[in-house]
Amino acid sequence: MCGIVGYIGRQPAKKILIDGLRELEYRGYDSAGIAILQDSGFSTFKALGKLINLEKKSTSFETKGFSVGIGHTRWATHGKPTELNAHPHMGENSYVVHNGIIENYQELKNELQSDGVTFISQTDTEVIVHLFEHYLKNALEAFDAFKMMLSRIEGAFAILLVTTTKKNQIFFAKSGSPMILGINSEDEKFFGSSDAALIGKCENVIYLEDGDYGYLDEKDILLYNKDDKRQHLTFTSLPTSKLSAQKEGFRFFMEKEIYEQHDVISDTLIGRLSDEKIIFDELDDNFLDGINDITFSSCGTSYHSALTASYLFERYAKIKTSVEFASEFRYRSPLLNSSTLFVVISQSGETADTLETLKMAKDAGLKTLVICNVDNSSMVRLADYTILARAGIEKGVASTKAFATQVVVLWMLSLYIASKRKSLDTKEIAKEIKILREVPSKTIVNDELHERIHRLSKRYLHGHGFFFIGRDVFFPLALEGALKLKEISYLHAEGYPSGEMKHGPIALADPELFTIALLPKNMLYDKSKSNVEELSARDATICAISPVNFDKADDFIQISNTQHYMLEFFEMMVVVQLLSMEISIRLGNDVDMPRNLAKSVTVE
Ligand code: M6R
Repeated sequence: MCGIVGYIGRQPAKKILIDGLRELEYRGYDSAGIAILQDSGFSTFKALGKLINLEKKSTSFETKGFSVGIGHTRWATHGKPTELNAHPHMGENSYVVHNGIIENYQELKNELQSDGVTFISQTDTEVIVHLFEHYLKNALEAFDAFKMMLSRIEGAFAILLVTTTKKNQIFFAKSGSPMILGINSEDEKFFGSSDAALIGKCENVIYLEDGDYGYLDEKDILLYNKDDKRQHLTFTSLPTSKLSAQKEGFRFFMEKEIYEQHDVISDTLIGRLSDEKIIFDELDDNFLDGINDITFSSCGTSYHSALTASYLFERYAKIKTSVEFASEFRYRSPLLNSSTLFVVISQSGETADTLETLKMAKDAGLKTLVICNVDNSSMVRLADYTILARAGIEKGVASTKAFATQVVVLWMLSLYIASKRKSLDTKEIAKEIKILREVPSKTIVNDELHERIHRLSKRYLHGHGFFFIGRDVFFPLALEGALKLKEISYLHAEGYPSGEMKHGPIALADPELFTIALLPKNMLYDKSKSNVEELSARDATICAISPVNFDKADDFIQISNTQHYMLEFFEMMVVVQLLSMEISIRLGNDVDMPRNLAKSVTVE
């Protein structure tokens, strides 16, 4: 998740920008950059990796007197993490930093290229600065050129732009991505993509609204809204706690991470979907040569993603899969065959057991792929191929958005392989791609749903155990729901295939046994319903999650009526995550740092 800072004033701008970026490190990034404009012109520095690298590169640079500056930390989505792809992006006389996605960038890029503009990065952002300069060349005032540029771009953005044509101004715009403007009594002005970057530097801020844009200099701020009406400036005071600022108004990182799933899933999809094709630039033409089957190896939540994948891969790609707990696999003398593609899945890329199985597979000469959220992690460095999940940094120990993005990647990969193996035709793939595009909207948390889950949660604080049950991909989701609850509530919970309850666990059924029943309309509804009825008949307490009303349930959480089971999967995922979190909060537990657990398990 990228971070943005901006500064206009007379203090040393480099330090202010880099300090601001440091406060945004919690969002995760793989490169950083700053551009500072003084009378003498621009000074720009970019570096891969941590901010210390940027500091080293700019050691000998200092500003004297007035300057304007913009800075950025980049979490690669569009184009690899390289210095060229790092922001700020350069035109002939201007620089831009941007968070979000310019959806129509390809069309704009083609247009500009045919006009003779040369692009040097693979990012969507670069079109912003070239488009601005294109209009500027047509003899428009800088602000008019900025407005013209804004009228052409589509998607989500927070933008800061500086140009030598107006050396004392910063142009800004916000739509869909966060941006805050701050001032202090020394006439300094600041921008940040979160409070955290501004705390300690200014006291009063404006949280820009979607559609807001304008420019500022040392004296004035001109702010317009989406209807192009000049706005009266209404400042609010800035919070003082950095930690709570990093949580961006949420009570816990886990809550923030649940809420941002729709955003990060969009990042996971970006550049990887055309109308009829899945695009993985990370994979080459030889990727599937000689491969007959796939083994997944992982732990915890990542194991549940793998299990979900096995249903999708066999259904769509018609390829045999096996799913292994890495901690078991590494000690059971497994038979390894070079026709097996070995896929490890890991949020951190550092989990000791999973890493060890990757080494075993490599030593045995297997082709390896890692699906990971952390670039340059040990697994990414070791595997033959990497697909990044792009969830942004995940702080809550209980994984949420990493799971969501892993499943999205795996679903896309199953379709990618299906197309290579011709197990689905173009029409069928196009249909799935349409559904994939709907996933972000299905993971938006609405207030009503959250409030309902909050109210329900008070009935689930005791009992002698929880069973999360589901069929097909809803079985791994049931496992994941149970794991979430265990981790942060310390209540006993199991995930079980619905159809297996009658083979033993149903003996536990009584009113103190809580069953969270996943009842999708689009996947084995009648079968699952019968299984839940069997439990209901034995007086188990049932909380059903379904688009279809279910009168045998004690509690019912309704999800929307869709035409595809994977859309139901993602909506239910949000419900089980929120339910676990609300139960944990009511029990007074530390949601983000549950007892006995660590975020990255680097011991066996
Ligand atoms: O970083 P990894 O995905 O390899 O981590 C694997 C597990 O340790 C992890 O998923 C763990 O189960 C989480 N705490 C689940 O919320």
